[in-house]
Amino acid sequence: AKVEAFDIVIFGGCGDLSLRKLMPALYRGYLEGSYSDDCRIVPTCRNKKDVDGFTTTLTVALKQHLSADEYNEALVEKFIALVRPCVVDITKHDKHWQGLADTLSAADHQSRIFYMAVAPAIYGVACKHLSKQGLINDSARVVVEKPIGYDGKTAAQINDAVAEFFTEQQIYRIDHYLGKETVQNLMALRFTNVIFEQLWDAKSIDHVQISISETVGLEGRAGFYDGAGALRDMVQNHLLQLLCLVAMESPNKLDANSIRAEKLKVLEALRPLVGEDVEKHTVRGQYVAGAHGDDLVPGYLEELGAPHSNTETFVAIKAQIDNWRWSKVPFYLRTGKRLRSRSAEIVIQFKDVSHHVYDDSVGALAPNKLIIRLQPNENIKLTMMTKDLSSLETKLKPVSLNLDFSDTYEDFKSDAYKRLLLDVAANNPALFIHRDEVDCAWGWIDPIIEQWVKTDHSPDLYRAGSWGPSAADKLILDDGRRWYCGG
Ligand code: BG6
Repeated sequence: AKVEAFDIVIFGGCGDLSLRKLMPALYRGYLEGSYSDDCRIVPTCRNKKDVDGFTTTLTVALKQHLSADEYNEALVEKFIALVRPCVVDITKHDKHWQGLADTLSAADHQSRIFYMAVAPAIYGVACKHLSKQGLINDSARVVVEKPIGYDGKTAAQINDAVAEFFTEQQIYRIDHYLGKETVQNLMALRFTNVIFEQLWDAKSIDHVQISISETVGLEGRAGFYDGAGALRDMVQNHLLQLLCLVAMESPNKLDANSIRAEKLKVLEALRPLVGEDVEKHTVRGQYVAGAHGDDLVPGYLEELGAPHSNTETFVAIKAQIDNWRWSKVPFYLRTGKRLRSRSAEIVIQFKDVSHHVYDDSVGALAPNKLIIRLQPNENIKLTMMTKDLSSLETKLKPVSLNLDFSDTYEDFKSDAYKRLLLDVAANNPALFIHRDEVDCAWGWIDPIIEQWVKTDHSPDLYRAGSWGPSAADKLILDDGRRWYCGG
């Protein structure tokens, strides 16, 4: 079904996020007929030159970021006809904003989405101008990108600035991980299959691992990244959101308020890491030059072009959730850049059976694991012990039940941004983040950073193309466990 016609203004329309993710996502939505030709897409750019050349820039970007079977020349042309680029320098005054107002006034009644694909520090100014021009109508919504802030305090400032002009219901805080199909499948898996929900607690689960490993380095974002680091860039949002979905109680209904309330309870139950606990339960790493396949890649400092930086490009954390369901079940979180391979996985490792009836000659028993893979391909695997049929003697062997989505859905292509943009258009905030979640997540992250800054340790170095610093292996090995992948 088509969503109601909308206008979407993308501030930062010529930027990387817009061209690499948002435009292809909007095109895909158009391709599948999710919205009509009455919609308008209004990317804003600071310079007239960029606006004049926008059609060419967009065509190149679509060619680059869409697969050959998605790129349909006739449709691209129709899609581009919906695009009305507009010059707006957010920090400049009325003359600039008047152009945007004129563009939008052609369909005053239409539902409006303002997407902030710009630095969070100017969200507030942008909202102020929108308000001054009378562009925030009742149906208006604003989408804000992470990182919201640099710490709890700056996040509050940004959220306050936006809240002056938009109500909480109108604010869509995006975390693209929540738009990934397998992430939503996690909820379906948990809350519709009795076999899992019965076992989903400290009685049956030994520990949980959530790992997002990337092979890329700075990707031209040195300025932003060096001020942020992996904890702010990935853990504060993506990893904690995944943790919430694994750990939350079943919401009463699948609406935004119920889901967000349950996620918030998990964040509130995270055991604070302060002082010495930070030293014990967190590892920071930074990559040095190394080999990636056949390529030699430079180290972080060389990419950055600086002689020194304490910014972490890798982080591993042992987290605990202090509530009835998860008492004493560690959640190991890990993420890093320039690691051996790209993957994102949630591993639920179950406990060992309570009594061994087989003797040691049958081989080692491996505990059951449920492995939910979000990247590079999307699948769900359950490992279990079976009798090895190829052996006449009694031997046991772990095998996997494998649910590979590409087998079931031949043309399966997931695009988190498309999914989330269509949710904004349909006024469905269930997969977006409430302000309280942002505040609470920072409340857990801030003391970790404070302790890192206080002790001023340099991060542990790891070679590009490896699985991170050895201290990360030690973090989990000390508990008698090991990382599922690599490590
Ligand atoms: C972004 C981070 O939020 O997520 C990037 O800012 C990171 O540093 C990216 O590369 C990873 O997203 P994905 O979907 O490619 O795993």
